[in-house]
This record gives sequence, structure tokens and C-alpha cells, in this order.
Amino acid sequence: MKRFSVSLPDKLFKDFGRYIALHKYVNRSEAVRDMIRSALVAEEWLSGEQVVGVINLVFDHHQRQLHERLTDIQHEYGQNIISTTHVHLDHHNCLEVIIVRGRAKIIQEMADRIKAVRGVKNSSLSATSTGRGIS
Ligand code: NI
Repeated sequence: MKRFSVSLPDKLFKDFGRYIALHKYVNRSEAVRDMIRSALVAEEWLSGEQVVGVINLVFDHHQRQLHERLTDIQHEYGQNIISTTHVHLDHHNCLEVIIVRGRAKIIQEMADRIKAVRGVKNSSLSATSTGRGIS
């Protein structure tokens, strides 16, 4: 474990204190560690390395051919998909959660294509890491 001290302007220090309280951190160090890890994950995605992510989408399965189109896209990226879970939310709506892995550019492209399919009500990509580059 290494220690280092950080100088912050008063306002930023105050804002940081509020952030820590809001997010229930037990101390400043844990908050700073999380921020550094987030920055490293963002860098992994920018550098195009192997990443892991979760794509979620909500859609109306009654909409014509929508489900087929979504399945077609997923088959195109079959090598990048670890697992897909489908939940029937109600009479109309389905939720799909797709766990993905691969080069950041490919994963982002798949997420963009899914989001752009007409009839998808909501979709987002949660970008995370293989964990290998982060302690
Ligand atoms: Ni369903």
C-alpha cells in the first residue's frame, strides 16, 4: 500500500466531502480508489483493449419483426456474447440483458446497433473491465 497526499482547492475539497457523504463512502481513500479505477476502465475502453460490458434493452415484443432483428444482430456478434437473459416484464414488454466481451470498438458498435433498432424503448451499455488491468 502506498500513501500520497493531494492538494485541492477549498471548493473542490468541499464538493468532494459532499460526494463522499452522498455515496456513503467510509473514507476519502476508498472514494479516490474508486475514481482511479473508473478512470482506468475508461482508458481501457478508449484504448480499444479487451473489455467486458452489459447491454440492456427494453422492447415491445408485439412490434413486428423487432425480436427477429434483435436476434439477427446478436447472431452477428455471437463471438462477443457471453450470455443473454430474457425477462417477460408484462404483456407487451421484454427486458434483455446481454453480457458481452471483446474489443471496445466492436462492443460499442453492437450496443449502438441494438439501440438504433426501431421499437427498442430503452437501451444502454454499462462499460466495465476484465479486471486484469485494475487492482
Ligand atoms: Ni419476452
